[in-house]
Amino acid sequence: MTVLSPTTMLAVRPTRAEFRNDVLAGLSQRPKRLPCKYFYDRRGSMLFDAICAQPEYYLTRTERQIMLQHIDDIVDVLGEQVILIEFGSGSSLKTRYLLQHLRKQEMYVPVDISREHLMNTVRRLHRDFGHVTIRPICADFTTGIRLPRVWDTGGRRVVYFPGSTIGNFEPTAAVQLLHRISKLSGPGGGLLIGIDLVKEPTIIERAYNDAAGVTAEFNLNLLMRMNRELGATFNLDRFEHRAFYDTRFHRVDLRLVSKHNQKVRINNRTFEFEAKEPIHTEYSHKYTIDRFSRLASEAGLKLERWWTDDRSYFGVLYFVHESQ
Ligand code: TRP
Repeated sequence: MTVLSPTTMLAVRPTRAEFRNDVLAGLSQRPKRLPCKYFYDRRGSMLFDAICAQPEYYLTRTERQIMLQHIDDIVDVLGEQVILIEFGSGSSLKTRYLLQHLRKQEMYVPVDISREHLMNTVRRLHRDFGHVTIRPICADFTTGIRLPRVWDTGGRRVVYFPGSTIGNFEPTAAVQLLHRISKLSGPGGGLLIGIDLVKEPTIIERAYNDAAGVTAEFNLNLLMRMNRELGATFNLDRFEHRAFYDTRFHRVDLRLVSKHNQKVRINNRTFEFEAKEPIHTEYSHKYTIDRFSRLASEAGLKLERWWTDDRSYFGVLYFVHESQ
């Protein structure tokens, strides 16, 4: 049994200097862009949980249904003595089903960029799953995660990557990340991943434009974070959230659009925005099972099983190494 204290948590998250450099570099590009990993400060992580509960946001609910309905099958495929490594664990809500059902559980390694969120989640999990060894890592999972050798119990490593987060990477970056995952899980290991599937564009667009405006607030929170942490001078009333589905690339394009001509200062630099000029903040790619498994095969992963819901809105896919 492992008691969580700050010293048992590995932390390699980005520093404020990296945040500043990434922001200055992104806003100097044409078109301007901001890296999406900075969405997840304390407030951003809370807003994200609220997005998942919006009626229009079908992804979380559907993925949870699939997990519930097929849990016996899923744990059968994962096998025994699993070291479950979750990328972008957030509140770990979906993981609870897995932790409840996995047989001869070895270890759970949640990886998340938001420290407070991770700490709170681990504290709660620890209360409810006292028998599971929990080893949190506070990190940006895109930079490559290594498990300390002392953590290695010899169990089978399965990376759990739910929420269609892989869709937030452009295809080349997605293949790179899948490659890292396949190396991390190693021969004999696997990847259990959630993928939002291609469907009627209006359904997708509604999910990213919820009536309560939570996704808009989440997007605008990036500006608030730059104001607070970098002393930037963004006026939040002068930008607006925009999300639309681009059928050419099968992806939602999320932006913050400047409503007026305006100037913003960050760190002794001035950035000019024209009226209607966008800052690109995120993509959310949608896949067919086929297209995604072709992508994963470029990273040496072979589709073993997959599950979906009645409407085929979402897919939960299990991959193993090509060599197996
Ligand atoms: N990966 C999920 C998706 O693409 C969740 C998500 C990530 C998201 N960034 C977001 C949702 C920005 C809304 C807005 O849907």
